Amino acid sequence: MANASTGDTATAGTAGKRPFPHRDLLGVSQLNQHEILDLIDRAEAMIPISRQPRKILPTLSGKTQINLFFEPSTRTQSSFEIAGKRLGAQVTNMSVKTSSVTKGETLIDTAATLNAMQPDVIIVRHPASGAVELLSQKVGCAVINAGDGSHEHPTQALLDALTIRQRKGRLAGLTVAICGDIANSRVARSNLLLLGALQVRTRVIAPKTLLPKGIEALATEVFTDMRKGLEGADVVMMLRLQHERAAGRLIPSVREYYRFYGLDAEKLALARPDAIVMHPGPMNRGVEIDPAIADGPRSVINEQVEMGVAVRMAVLDALLADPSQVSA
Ligand code: NCD
Repeated sequence: MANASTGDTATAGTAGKRPFPHRDLLGVSQLNQHEILDLIDRAEAMIPISRQPRKILPTLSGKTQINLFFEPSTRTQSSFEIAGKRLGAQVTNMSVKTSSVTKGETLIDTAATLNAMQPDVIIVRHPASGAVELLSQKVGCAVINAGDGSHEHPTQALLDALTIRQRKGRLAGLTVAICGDIANSRVARSNLLLLGALQVRTRVIAPKTLLPKGIEALATEVFTDMRKGLEGADVVMMLRLQHERAAGRLIPSVREYYRFYGLDAEKLALARPDAIVMHPGPMNRGVEIDPAIADGPRSVINEQVEMGVAVRMAVLDALLADPSQVSA
């Protein structure tokens, strides 16, 4: 279960037994420290399920899960799908290309239509910040934010925290450097909120043009010099340059960007010798990260993907399962 020896765990021994106090998971900003640690503990308890030959729990049997993705996604959508199926839910994937949204139906109409089908949970990804919250107000079931614009991506931050805790044995007191397109990144925002709530020192590293206004309020330290920002870091989290959000216009050239902000062996040597390297994917190899580092021994990128399923199982379980039936 949770890492009781580190003091990171507020709920050791009770994970999965108390009801979760929210209908939806819209963002890390709605969670307090206790609730964050509870979800991480619940996720840790889910890890073994995916490693056993028969990967199934009956907790969501008879429940209907709809994945509603208005943005292309491979890993997040399949991760939610697999998580739901491993808990016994019936999962339907709706992608925008095949839906009536392309015929002019609004987000609200789509929400009302789906709601009439009596789902138990809708998982939504949308290019506009705030769209998921809007949708949640129009439906009668649980809603999980799978990424809205540059706002929040709560399950990504939870899976990142679980990955770090699995590798480092703790979270509190670590230094995590988040580097790259901070301005456009919902991953950075959710991570800064989550890590900040758990007494993790956070650094953001980016050229000025990729730092959002007010970032000082979210991160412990802000760097424009990657070499300085990496010094002594326990975790180096690289972010993708968000071309679909026009990040390319905010840098002189991709080559320049790689030279100053791409993670290669020489820059990584400035972090702690045992520092781990993370990336939420999809990666632009050779733009923000050297392929040799992405595939190297310090990379935990594939572990992040594995932890993603555990976190999504935990969130689905927390929101939907009857607490008296929870077996995790
Ligand atoms: C991230 C996202 O979609 O916000 N990816 C993901 O969830 N796997 C990061 C990104 O797209 O760069």
